[in-house]
Amino acid sequence: MKKIITYGTFDLLHYGHIDLLKRAKDIGDYLIVGLSSDEFNEIKGKKSYFKYEERKCLLEAIRYVDLVITEENWDQKREDITKYQIDCFVIGNDWVGEFDELSEVCEVIYLERTPEISTTKIKSDIKSI
Ligand code: CTP
Repeated sequence: MKKIITYGTFDLLHYGHIDLLKRAKDIGDYLIVGLSSDEFNEIKGKKSYFKYEERKCLLEAIRYVDLVITEENWDQKREDITKYQIDCFVIGNDWVGEFDELSEVCEVIYLERTPEISTTKIKSDIKSI
């Protein structure tokens, strides 16, 4: 079984997120999402609209997602990859180059982002409605 892992905040779940998760799952058989905790979002300078448990509930309802774990800091990825016997780390190409060092422990793939959609854009568009 080929196991994939990806990470993110996934706030105000949108079709760019769904497409990323679908393409990540297509690479293998079992997809784990490391979902940023509210506390970790604060460290990243992000404030989500939906709280952690709400974002988790939405992700768990997606057919491509097999398991949601909590992302609490920048450094846990290597540990997760070993713990969950991950074959491939996947993330959008807004992070290109940032996680190359993980190729020491598994395959690293940067997927093309879906154009013209982001949580930031949704928040800003809704303000102007
Ligand atoms: N993603 C994507 N296409 C988009 C938006 C996000 O492929 N249009 C991917 C990101 O590259 C990342 C994952 O979805 O791998 C989670 O991204 P996240 O930062 O939670 O979503 P964004 O919409 O980019 O949020 P923000 O605007 O707050 O940065």
